[in-house]
Amino acid sequence: MKKHYVTTPLYYVNAAPHLGHAYCTVAADALHRFMKAQGRESHFLTGTDEHGSKIEAAAAAAGVPPRAWADEYADKFRRLWDHLDVKYDDFIRTTEPRHEDCVGKVFAALQENGDIYKGRYKGFYCVSCETYWTDTEAPENAGGRVCPNTDCGKPLQVVAEESYFFRLSKYQSALLDLYEARPDFLKPAHRANEIVRFVESGLQDISISRTKVKWGIPVPGDPGHTVYVWFDALTNYVSAAGYGRDPGLFGSLWPADVHVVGKEIYRFHAVIWPAMLMALEIEPPSKVFAHGWWTVSGQKMGKSLGNFVDPRDVTREFGVDAFRYFLLREVPFGNDGDYSPESMRKRYNADLANDLGNLLSRVVQMVDKYLEGQLPRRPDMERSPQTAGLLGQAEGFAESMRRLAFSDALGLAWAGVSRLNQRVNATAPWNLAKTDLAKTREILFDLVSSLRIIAGWIEPFMPQTAAKMQAQLGVRQFPDGSGPEKIQKGPPLFPRKP
Ligand code: ME8
Repeated sequence: MKKHYVTTPLYYVNAAPHLGHAYCTVAADALHRFMKAQGRESHFLTGTDEHGSKIEAAAAAAGVPPRAWADEYADKFRRLWDHLDVKYDDFIRTTEPRHEDCVGKVFAALQENGDIYKGRYKGFYCVSCETYWTDTEAPENAGGRVCPNTDCGKPLQVVAEESYFFRLSKYQSALLDLYEARPDFLKPAHRANEIVRFVESGLQDISISRTKVKWGIPVPGDPGHTVYVWFDALTNYVSAAGYGRDPGLFGSLWPADVHVVGKEIYRFHAVIWPAMLMALEIEPPSKVFAHGWWTVSGQKMGKSLGNFVDPRDVTREFGVDAFRYFLLREVPFGNDGDYSPESMRKRYNADLANDLGNLLSRVVQMVDKYLEGQLPRRPDMERSPQTAGLLGQAEGFAESMRRLAFSDALGLAWAGVSRLNQRVNATAPWNLAKTDLAKTREILFDLVSSLRIIAGWIEPFMPQTAAKMQAQLGVRQFPDGSGPEKIQKGPPLFPRKP
């Protein structure tokens, strides 16, 4: 059976990873973990984009060869993913032979079928965005020509050279047909229009080789040219999946279920990439999901402001799970968000320390105190009202996850947490235990089994917390359902932060 296949962008190795990179990667990891929890085989690919002028320039400025520079930075990404409990199955670097070979084959195949041809490019280039711009897209103004990307605005290079072109224009109507036939392809829906309008307005063939950039994959049979870094990088989604190398692997993964990307690179993924696949006669992915951008305390994150948020600074104070939780809870996936130390602290104290952490420790302590840590043999779960309520929402939770509506899924879990807290307050087991132990046992059982469900739900988001909860709640002690089950008090999950 085909595996679920989820990818992140390949991150540029010109600088160290920051909160934005962590965001996309943690989101993909949560989806991947969810699929596995559902019993689906899932494959998660991430990696690094290592060729092109931007990396060439960063390495040159540091006085090191680009390969050594890329090794060092690719490692920084890997180590951050380990630190953030990101469990990818494959990490591809565009400088690996398996990838370079594939790009060469793809290029040659498209030359062969006439979708790549040689011409002359004259126009403008933004090194920071690794993007070509035309005269009309980037008109001359008082300060010269600057990158029209609202997030960029940097001065453009003039490029006039011989170049290979990809016949993107040929795929205009096929792309429009794809968008129409497959409403799930462009997500979220509010970003789809921009793509459709862009394609409707007419597509130009795109330049896909450079003669001035040496740090790249040579064009097959014409080594004076290197392959344009985007043409190179986009190919990773199939090169890592064994295209042209391992048909068994490719068949088990392709088409990808979802490419998760930031909104600024949506066009590359929603227009150029499916057109490249059509040219290769490969089916497009099922979905391309563009998430929003984070600002920091209301300001753009950027080099000039020097305000990149280092994920390790956040995890040092709040822990890995709280950071993961914040990223996926704070804003609906697909919208822009703002990070600030205050908003992080607020979420931590309110949702994690107060709502979830207190609930768990209250329940566990009561079982310890009133029932000597033992739960009776597992009664019929359906009969416990809170548990039944949560089980009734399991499909809603799963449906939100499948839509990548992570904040909705967490919202459902926290609505459950809040009902459980209300139940504790309303039933006051600490009083009831004095007069009716049987009833107390029933209520506590209900709370424990509900918390076990919540622990399962939050695992994709907060794996360590889920494991700690499960240990305290005696999950998996008796897989056959025999009891008694031992509840174990543990340290608070999320100590309050002043
Ligand atoms: O674009 N907010 O790599 P990149 C949210 N190599 N997400 C952000 C962000 C922010 N402020 N800043 C970055 C590239 N990201 C290409 C991709 S794919 C074949 C090649 C995240 O290092 C977001 O997911 O610039 C964005 O798309 C990605 O980092 C861009 O990483």
